[in-house]
Amino acid sequence: MACLLVGALLLVAQTDRVHSSSSQQSEGTLLQSLRYRSGSESNETEHNSPQSQSSITSQMIPQSIIIGVRKGGTRALLEMLDIHPDIVVAATEVHFFDWDENYVKGLEWYRKLMPFSYPHQTTIEKTPGYFTSIKAPERIHDMNSSTKLLLILRDPTERVISDYTQVYYNRLENHKPVQPIEEMVIKNGVLNTKYKAIQRSLYDIHMSNWLRYFPLNQIHIVDGGTLIRNPLEELQKVETFLNIPARIMTSNFYFNQTKGFYCLRSDGKERCLHESKGRPHPVVNSTVLKELHTYFREHNERFFSMVKQTFNWH
Ligand SMILES: *[C@@H]1O[C@H](CO)[C@@H](O)[C@H](O)[C@H]1NC(C)=O
Ligand SMILES: *[C@@H]1O[C@H](CO)[C@@H](O)[C@H](O)[C@H]1NC(C)=O
Ligand SMILES: *[C@@H]1O[C@H](CO)[C@@H](O)[C@H](O)[C@H]1NC(C)=O
Ligand SMILES: *[C@@H]1O[C@H](CO)[C@@H](O)[C@H](O)[C@H]1NC(C)=O
Repeated sequence: MACLLVGALLLVAQTDRVHSSSSQQSEGTLLQSLRYRSGSESNETEHNSPQSQSSITSQMIPQSIIIGVRKGGTRALLEMLDIHPDIVVAATEVHFFDWDENYVKGLEWYRKLMPFSYPHQTTIEKTPGYFTSIKAPERIHDMNSSTKLLLILRDPTERVISDYTQVYYNRLENHKPVQPIEEMVIKNGVLNTKYKAIQRSLYDIHMSNWLRYFPLNQIHIVDGGTLIRNPLEELQKVETFLNIPARIMTSNFYFNQTKGFYCLRSDGKERCLHESKGRPHPVVNSTVLKELHTYFREHNERFFSMVKQTFNWH
Protein backbone atom coordinates (compact mmCIF):
# COMPACT_ATOMS: atom_id res chain seq x y z
CA MET A 1 0.00 0.00 0.00
CA ALA A 2 2.65 2.47 1.07
CA CYS A 3 4.81 1.43 -1.87
CA LEU A 4 2.01 2.03 -4.32
CA LEU A 5 1.39 5.44 -2.88
CA VAL A 6 5.04 6.40 -3.17
CA GLY A 7 5.17 5.09 -6.73
CA ALA A 8 2.21 7.22 -7.71
CA LEU A 9 3.71 10.26 -6.04
CA LEU A 10 6.97 9.80 -7.89
CA LEU A 11 5.11 9.68 -11.19
CA VAL A 12 3.29 12.90 -10.45
CA ALA A 13 6.58 14.36 -9.28
CA GLN A 14 8.01 14.08 -12.78
CA THR A 15 5.53 16.62 -14.11
CA ASP A 16 5.37 18.63 -10.94
CA ARG A 17 9.05 19.49 -10.98
CA VAL A 18 8.62 21.75 -14.02
CA HIS A 19 6.70 24.45 -12.18
CA SER A 20 8.45 24.09 -8.88
CA SER A 21 9.17 27.70 -8.05
CA SER A 22 5.67 29.11 -7.96
CA SER A 23 4.96 32.32 -6.10
CA GLN A 24 6.02 32.01 -2.48
CA GLN A 25 4.17 34.98 -1.03
CA SER A 26 0.59 34.13 -1.96
CA GLU A 27 0.92 30.72 -0.37
CA GLY A 28 2.16 32.19 2.90
CA THR A 29 -0.67 31.17 5.19
CA LEU A 30 -1.06 27.79 3.58
CA LEU A 31 2.61 27.09 4.13
CA GLN A 32 2.28 27.78 7.79
CA SER A 33 -0.16 24.94 8.23
CA LEU A 34 1.82 22.64 6.00
CA ARG A 35 4.78 22.14 8.30
CA TYR A 36 6.54 19.30 6.65
CA ARG A 37 9.65 17.56 7.86
CA SER A 38 12.27 15.96 5.69
CA GLY A 39 13.57 12.43 5.58
CA SER A 40 11.94 9.26 6.69
CA GLU A 41 8.71 10.76 8.01
CA SER A 42 7.75 12.00 4.57
CA ASN A 43 5.50 9.09 3.68
CA GLU A 44 3.43 9.59 6.83
CA THR A 45 3.13 13.28 6.24
CA GLU A 46 1.96 12.84 2.69
CA HIS A 47 -0.64 10.45 3.89
CA ASN A 48 -1.98 12.51 6.75
CA SER A 49 -1.71 15.98 5.30
CA PRO A 50 -5.05 17.79 5.46
CA GLN A 51 -4.32 19.88 2.35
CA SER A 52 -4.29 16.90 0.06
CA GLN A 53 -4.35 18.99 -3.12
CA SER A 54 -1.03 20.61 -2.18
CA SER A 55 0.65 17.65 -0.59
CA ILE A 56 2.37 16.40 -3.73
CA THR A 57 6.02 15.94 -2.95
CA SER A 58 9.04 15.12 -5.03
CA GLN A 59 12.76 14.74 -4.64
CA MET A 60 14.46 17.85 -5.94
CA ILE A 61 18.06 18.58 -6.77
CA PRO A 62 19.18 20.96 -4.01
CA GLN A 63 18.73 24.64 -4.73
CA SER A 64 21.29 25.35 -2.03
CA ILE A 65 24.36 23.44 -0.87
CA ILE A 66 26.45 23.82 2.28
CA ILE A 67 29.90 23.33 0.77
CA GLY A 68 32.01 23.39 3.94
CA VAL A 69 34.31 23.83 5.58
CA ARG A 70 35.07 20.62 7.43
CA LYS A 71 34.91 21.30 11.21
CA GLY A 72 33.47 24.73 10.50
CA GLY A 73 30.06 23.96 12.01
CA THR A 74 28.29 22.55 8.94
CA ARG A 75 26.19 20.11 10.97
CA ALA A 76 25.04 22.85 13.34
CA LEU A 77 24.13 25.08 10.41
CA LEU A 78 22.19 22.32 8.66
CA GLU A 79 20.26 21.34 11.79
CA MET A 80 19.42 24.95 12.57
CA LEU A 81 18.19 25.57 9.03
CA ASP A 82 16.10 22.42 9.28
CA ILE A 83 13.93 24.31 11.80
CA HIS A 84 12.62 26.41 8.92
CA PRO A 85 9.33 25.06 7.51
CA ASP A 86 10.36 25.91 3.94
CA ILE A 87 13.63 23.99 4.13
CA VAL A 88 14.21 20.27 3.80
CA VAL A 89 17.65 18.81 4.33
CA ALA A 90 19.41 15.67 3.12
CA ALA A 91 19.97 13.24 5.97
CA THR A 92 23.54 12.29 5.11
CA GLU A 93 26.66 13.79 3.59
CA VAL A 94 26.26 12.88 -0.04
CA HIS A 95 29.81 13.40 -1.41
CA PHE A 96 28.49 13.60 -4.95
CA PHE A 97 30.64 16.39 -6.36
CA ASP A 98 33.89 15.53 -4.57
CA TRP A 99 34.04 11.74 -4.94
CA ASP A 100 34.48 10.51 -8.51
CA GLU A 101 32.95 7.11 -7.72
CA ASN A 102 29.70 8.88 -6.75
CA TYR A 103 29.80 11.51 -9.47
CA VAL A 104 29.88 8.89 -12.22
CA LYS A 105 26.55 7.54 -10.93
CA GLY A 106 24.90 10.61 -12.38
CA LEU A 107 22.47 13.32 -11.37
CA GLU A 108 19.48 11.00 -10.96
CA TRP A 109 21.40 9.00 -8.37
CA TYR A 110 22.09 12.27 -6.57
CA ARG A 111 18.48 13.45 -6.76
CA LYS A 112 17.19 10.19 -5.31
CA LEU A 113 19.22 10.85 -2.16
CA MET A 114 17.33 14.06 -1.52
CA PRO A 115 14.36 14.23 0.85
CA PHE A 116 10.84 14.64 -0.49
CA SER A 117 9.76 18.26 -0.62
CA TYR A 118 6.80 20.41 -1.50
CA PRO A 119 7.17 22.70 -4.51
CA HIS A 120 7.66 25.81 -2.36
CA GLN A 121 10.42 24.25 -0.26
CA THR A 122 14.17 24.60 -0.65
CA THR A 123 16.23 21.43 -0.57
CA ILE A 124 19.66 21.66 1.06
CA GLU A 125 22.44 19.12 1.30
CA LYS A 126 25.76 19.54 3.07
CA THR A 127 29.07 17.91 2.29
CA PRO A 128 31.98 19.71 3.98
CA GLY A 129 34.48 18.16 1.57
CA TYR A 130 33.18 20.20 -1.36
CA PHE A 131 34.92 23.41 -0.29
CA THR A 132 38.41 21.93 -0.61
CA SER A 133 37.65 19.81 -3.67
CA ILE A 134 39.22 20.89 -6.95
CA LYS A 135 36.37 19.53 -9.04
CA ALA A 136 33.30 20.42 -6.98
CA PRO A 137 32.88 24.07 -8.10
CA GLU A 138 32.78 23.26 -11.81
CA ARG A 139 30.55 20.23 -11.27
CA ILE A 140 28.00 22.14 -9.20
CA HIS A 141 28.07 24.92 -11.78
CA ASP A 142 27.45 22.36 -14.53
CA MET A 143 24.44 21.03 -12.64
CA ASN A 144 22.86 24.43 -12.09
CA SER A 145 24.79 27.68 -12.25
CA SER A 146 22.14 29.34 -10.04
CA THR A 147 22.81 27.04 -7.06
CA LYS A 148 23.10 29.09 -3.89
CA LEU A 149 26.19 28.16 -1.92
CA LEU A 150 26.52 28.35 1.84
CA LEU A 151 29.98 28.32 3.37
CA ILE A 152 30.54 28.24 7.12
CA LEU A 153 34.02 29.15 8.30
CA ARG A 154 35.82 29.62 11.57
CA ASP A 155 39.27 30.74 12.68
CA PRO A 156 41.65 28.63 10.55
CA THR A 157 43.90 27.75 13.50
CA GLU A 158 40.95 26.57 15.59
CA ARG A 159 39.80 24.60 12.57
CA VAL A 160 43.18 22.81 12.37
CA ILE A 161 42.95 21.84 16.04
CA SER A 162 39.38 20.62 15.64
CA ASP A 163 40.33 18.69 12.49
CA TYR A 164 43.27 17.11 14.33
CA THR A 165 41.03 16.23 17.29
CA GLN A 166 38.49 14.44 15.11
CA VAL A 167 41.16 12.39 13.35
CA TYR A 168 42.86 11.72 16.69
CA TYR A 169 39.71 10.16 18.20
CA ASN A 170 38.91 8.24 15.02
CA ARG A 171 42.37 6.72 15.10
CA LEU A 172 42.07 5.89 18.80
CA GLU A 173 38.77 4.12 18.14
CA ASN A 174 40.37 2.14 15.32
CA HIS A 175 43.40 1.27 17.48
CA LYS A 176 45.77 3.15 15.21
CA PRO A 177 48.79 5.04 16.54
CA VAL A 178 48.35 8.73 17.28
CA GLN A 179 50.81 11.60 17.47
CA PRO A 180 50.59 14.80 19.48
CA ILE A 181 49.38 17.74 17.38
CA GLU A 182 52.75 19.50 17.75
CA GLU A 183 54.45 16.64 15.89
CA MET A 184 51.90 16.83 13.07
CA VAL A 185 52.19 20.60 12.70
CA ILE A 186 55.97 20.91 13.02
CA LYS A 187 58.22 18.58 11.01
CA ASN A 188 62.02 18.91 11.16
CA GLY A 189 61.67 22.21 12.97
CA VAL A 190 59.50 23.90 10.37
CA LEU A 191 55.79 24.22 9.84
CA ASN A 192 54.49 21.15 8.01
CA THR A 193 52.47 22.90 5.32
CA LYS A 194 51.77 19.54 3.68
CA TYR A 195 49.63 18.55 6.67
CA LYS A 196 46.07 18.15 5.31
CA ALA A 197 44.51 19.93 8.27
CA ILE A 198 46.65 22.99 7.53
CA GLN A 199 45.90 22.90 3.81
CA ARG A 200 42.16 22.77 4.43
CA SER A 201 42.46 26.01 6.41
CA LEU A 202 43.92 27.96 3.45
CA TYR A 203 40.56 29.55 2.70
CA ASP A 204 41.92 31.96 0.08
CA ILE A 205 43.25 29.15 -2.08
CA HIS A 206 40.02 27.16 -2.05
CA MET A 207 37.83 30.24 -2.41
CA SER A 208 39.65 31.38 -5.56
CA ASN A 209 38.65 28.08 -7.18
CA TRP A 210 34.96 28.71 -6.36
CA LEU A 211 35.11 32.28 -7.60
CA ARG A 212 36.20 31.02 -11.01
CA TYR A 213 32.71 29.53 -11.40
CA PHE A 214 30.39 31.48 -9.09
CA PRO A 215 29.94 35.20 -8.48
CA LEU A 216 30.65 36.29 -4.93
CA ASN A 217 27.01 37.18 -4.29
CA GLN A 218 26.06 33.55 -4.84
CA ILE A 219 28.26 32.36 -1.98
CA HIS A 220 27.02 33.30 1.46
CA ILE A 221 29.61 33.00 4.21
CA VAL A 222 28.39 32.13 7.68
CA ASP A 223 30.62 33.05 10.60
CA GLY A 224 30.86 29.80 12.54
CA GLY A 225 31.90 31.61 15.72
CA THR A 226 28.85 33.88 15.63
CA LEU A 227 26.54 31.00 14.75
CA ILE A 228 27.41 29.31 18.04
CA ARG A 229 27.23 32.47 20.17
CA ASN A 230 24.27 34.15 18.48
CA PRO A 231 22.57 31.69 16.13
CA LEU A 232 19.53 33.78 15.25
CA GLU A 233 21.53 36.67 13.82
CA GLU A 234 23.43 34.40 11.42
CA LEU A 235 20.35 32.38 10.46
CA GLN A 236 18.37 35.50 9.57
CA LYS A 237 21.11 36.43 7.12
CA VAL A 238 20.79 32.99 5.58
CA GLU A 239 17.00 33.37 5.27
CA THR A 240 17.55 36.62 3.41
CA PHE A 241 20.19 35.02 1.16
CA LEU A 242 17.89 32.10 0.35
CA ASN A 243 15.03 34.52 -0.24
CA ILE A 244 12.69 32.67 2.13
CA PRO A 245 10.44 34.23 4.79
CA ALA A 246 11.95 34.80 8.24
CA ARG A 247 10.58 31.92 10.29
CA ILE A 248 13.42 30.95 12.62
CA MET A 249 12.85 32.68 15.95
CA THR A 250 14.42 33.28 19.35
CA SER A 251 12.06 30.68 20.79
CA ASN A 252 13.77 28.02 18.65
CA PHE A 253 16.87 28.29 20.85
CA TYR A 254 17.64 27.89 24.49
CA PHE A 255 20.96 28.08 26.21
CA ASN A 256 22.12 24.95 28.00
CA GLN A 257 24.32 26.08 30.92
CA THR A 258 25.84 22.65 31.39
CA LYS A 259 26.93 22.35 27.78
CA GLY A 260 27.70 26.04 27.41
CA PHE A 261 25.95 26.38 24.08
CA TYR A 262 22.56 26.64 22.46
CA CYS A 263 20.18 23.77 21.95
CA LEU A 264 17.30 23.71 19.47
CA ARG A 265 13.59 23.59 20.08
CA SER A 266 11.20 22.96 17.20
CA ASP A 267 8.02 20.97 16.61
CA GLY A 268 7.80 20.54 20.35
CA LYS A 269 11.09 18.65 20.41
CA GLU A 270 14.37 19.67 21.97
CA ARG A 271 17.77 18.60 20.81
CA CYS A 272 21.32 19.64 21.43
CA LEU A 273 23.96 19.66 18.76
CA HIS A 274 26.97 17.45 19.05
CA GLU A 275 29.39 18.83 16.51
CA SER A 276 32.42 18.12 18.68
CA LYS A 277 30.73 15.16 20.38
CA GLY A 278 31.94 16.65 23.64
CA ARG A 279 35.52 15.72 22.90
CA PRO A 280 37.99 18.05 24.53
CA HIS A 281 40.51 19.76 22.26
CA PRO A 282 44.17 19.36 23.23
CA VAL A 283 46.03 22.25 24.83
CA VAL A 284 48.45 23.20 22.08
CA ASN A 285 52.00 24.44 22.72
CA SER A 286 51.88 28.22 22.48
CA THR A 287 54.92 28.45 20.20
CA VAL A 288 53.23 26.11 17.74
CA LEU A 289 50.00 28.11 17.99
CA LYS A 290 51.88 31.30 17.20
CA GLU A 291 53.46 29.71 14.15
CA LEU A 292 50.04 28.71 12.87
CA HIS A 293 48.62 32.19 13.46
CA THR A 294 51.55 33.74 11.61
CA TYR A 295 51.24 31.32 8.72
CA PHE A 296 47.52 31.92 8.28
CA ARG A 297 47.65 35.72 8.67
CA GLU A 298 48.62 36.42 5.07
CA HIS A 299 46.16 33.86 3.71
CA ASN A 300 43.38 35.36 5.82
CA GLU A 301 44.13 38.85 4.53
CA ARG A 302 43.95 37.61 0.97
CA PHE A 303 40.72 35.82 1.74
CA PHE A 304 39.16 38.94 3.31
CA SER A 305 39.88 41.05 0.26
CA MET A 306 38.64 38.28 -2.01
CA VAL A 307 35.25 38.10 -0.25
CA LYS A 308 35.10 41.83 0.67
CA GLN A 309 34.41 40.92 4.28
CA THR A 310 36.55 40.48 7.38
CA PHE A 311 36.32 38.01 10.24
CA ASN A 312 37.58 38.26 13.77
CA TRP A 313 40.27 35.61 13.49
CA HIS A 314 43.78 35.67 14.97
C1 LIG B 1 8.56 5.58 2.01
O1 LIG B 1 8.19 4.28 2.36
C2 LIG B 1 8.84 3.29 1.61
C3 LIG B 1 8.24 1.95 1.96
O2 LIG B 1 7.98 1.86 3.36
C4 LIG B 1 10.35 3.36 1.92
O3 LIG B 1 11.05 2.39 1.18
C5 LIG B 1 10.85 4.73 1.51
O4 LIG B 1 12.20 4.86 1.88
C6 LIG B 1 10.05 5.81 2.21
N1 LIG B 1 10.43 7.09 1.70
C7 LIG B 1 10.75 8.07 2.49
C8 LIG B 1 11.16 9.33 1.85
O5 LIG B 1 10.74 7.96 3.71
C1 LIG C 1 18.45 26.22 -11.20
O1 LIG C 1 18.28 26.75 -9.94
C2 LIG C 1 17.37 27.83 -9.87
C3 LIG C 1 17.42 28.36 -8.45
O2 LIG C 1 17.21 27.32 -7.53
C4 LIG C 1 15.98 27.35 -10.28
O3 LIG C 1 15.08 28.41 -10.24
C5 LIG C 1 16.07 26.77 -11.68
O4 LIG C 1 14.83 26.21 -12.03
C6 LIG C 1 17.13 25.71 -11.76
N1 LIG C 1 17.31 25.30 -13.15
C7 LIG C 1 17.22 24.03 -13.52
C8 LIG C 1 17.46 23.77 -14.96
O5 LIG C 1 16.95 23.14 -12.74
C1 LIG D 1 21.82 20.20 28.92
O1 LIG D 1 23.05 19.52 28.76
C2 LIG D 1 23.22 18.45 29.66
C3 LIG D 1 24.65 17.94 29.53
O2 LIG D 1 24.91 17.45 28.24
C4 LIG D 1 22.18 17.39 29.38
O3 LIG D 1 22.34 16.30 30.24
C5 LIG D 1 20.80 18.01 29.56
O4 LIG D 1 19.82 17.07 29.16
C6 LIG D 1 20.65 19.26 28.73
N1 LIG D 1 19.43 19.91 29.11
C7 LIG D 1 18.56 20.35 28.23
C8 LIG D 1 17.33 21.00 28.80
O5 LIG D 1 18.73 20.25 27.03
C1 LIG E 1 56.80 24.46 22.82
O1 LIG E 1 57.63 23.87 21.84
C2 LIG E 1 58.91 24.43 21.72
C3 LIG E 1 59.65 23.74 20.62
O2 LIG E 1 58.87 23.67 19.47
C4 LIG E 1 59.65 24.29 23.02
O3 LIG E 1 60.92 24.93 22.94
C5 LIG E 1 58.85 24.90 24.16
O4 LIG E 1 59.48 24.62 25.38
C6 LIG E 1 57.43 24.35 24.18
N1 LIG E 1 56.67 25.12 25.13
C7 LIG E 1 55.95 24.53 26.06
C8 LIG E 1 55.20 25.47 26.97
O5 LIG E 1 55.88 23.34 26.17
